[in-house]
Amino acid sequence: MFQPSVFSEMTALAQQHGALNLAQGYPEFGPPEEAVEAYRAALAEGWHQYAPAAGLPALRQALSALDRRRWGNAAPAAADPESEITVVPGATVGLYAAFLTLLQPCDEAVVLEPAYDSYGPAIRRAGGTVVTGSFAAPDWFALLSARTRVVVVNSPHNPTGSVWSREDWDQLASALESFPNAVVVSDEAYEWMVFDGQESFSVRQVDALRSRAFRILSLGKTFHATGWKIGAVVAPPNWTAQFRQVYQFLAFAANTPAQKALASALELRPDYPETLARFFQDKRDRLDRALRAGGWDVQPCSGSYFLTVRLPHGTDDWAWARARVADAGVAVVPLQPFYIDATGVPPAVRLCFAKNDATLDEAAKRLNHWKNQNPL
Ligand SMILES: Cc1ncc(COP(=O)(O)O)c(C=O)c1O
Repeated sequence: MFQPSVFSEMTALAQQHGALNLAQGYPEFGPPEEAVEAYRAALAEGWHQYAPAAGLPALRQALSALDRRRWGNAAPAAADPESEITVVPGATVGLYAAFLTLLQPCDEAVVLEPAYDSYGPAIRRAGGTVVTGSFAAPDWFALLSARTRVVVVNSPHNPTGSVWSREDWDQLASALESFPNAVVVSDEAYEWMVFDGQESFSVRQVDALRSRAFRILSLGKTFHATGWKIGAVVAPPNWTAQFRQVYQFLAFAANTPAQKALASALELRPDYPETLARFFQDKRDRLDRALRAGGWDVQPCSGSYFLTVRLPHGTDDWAWARARVADAGVAVVPLQPFYIDATGVPPAVRLCFAKNDATLDEAAKRLNHWKNQNPL
């Protein structure tokens, strides 16, 4: 039923050909030293057994403190650590458990494409039907109906790098006024990676949506530690209680020393997540500049750590990406797998810029060289 993910396939191809891997969305660098040191300390102190199912209290409190640092002490958006935050083994598990909690057979889930590839299979496994609209087209609101149980939003967006503004959220809130049964699943995995001084909006900041929203976090993305597999799901108390009932039989708890380490890192460096915008904006600019100089059709990117590049009309982006691993020595991912039906969609590929500057420079050099050798 499930196909291997495009990211795994391209990473395996990159390894086989010794190519630079700009395909899979993980950083080439590790977490801040405070987090690594805290992980070592957690192991030395004996944090080896199951954490509480809801997550280590210290991490839930640190996440709640981070909300208050960002939105203000009395902000209703800030989550209560006891009743609204559940730590999970990564955002992907959080999403899966959220869909299992929310969906019954015959329920519909609206997914705006292109979309992160786990949504569709997870929704279908949970018994729901996926209804797709275009992320770029405002008329997707027409997909909402009495059968809509879930609306998935992902901002900053993988793969396009677009970021929802306050107006986008407000439009969703007013569209959902007529559909009280619908719940927003807001994938905010890249919440700190928002560029050019733009603000990153969370579903929790929208008063009309907070009581009907799941906010999904990936601390793996925030801390350059995707292999630690720690994320969190924030939802109002009634939904959190139901979510925890489902989640206890899915994973029960997430990695204990990693939770301990992240809690300590957030206590020691509460400012750290705020540094990510500048850090990744510089990387975006570096890759964007180099590829544009080579004549590539680079699309605008306001957030996340991905750039997309349009390919000439009629190109099969799957075949194109596979071929470039071998002959350009760079692995990227095609956009086709981000759609259930990619017919008529402009061909494009996604490049992850969470890489060292030298890797970004070399990847752009190789792609530009290939383009020079293969003019249209
Ligand atoms: C939009 C989006 N959500 C969720 C995830 C998964 O996050 P995690 O590694 O915490 O499971 C990814 C990973 O690439 C992603 O791009």
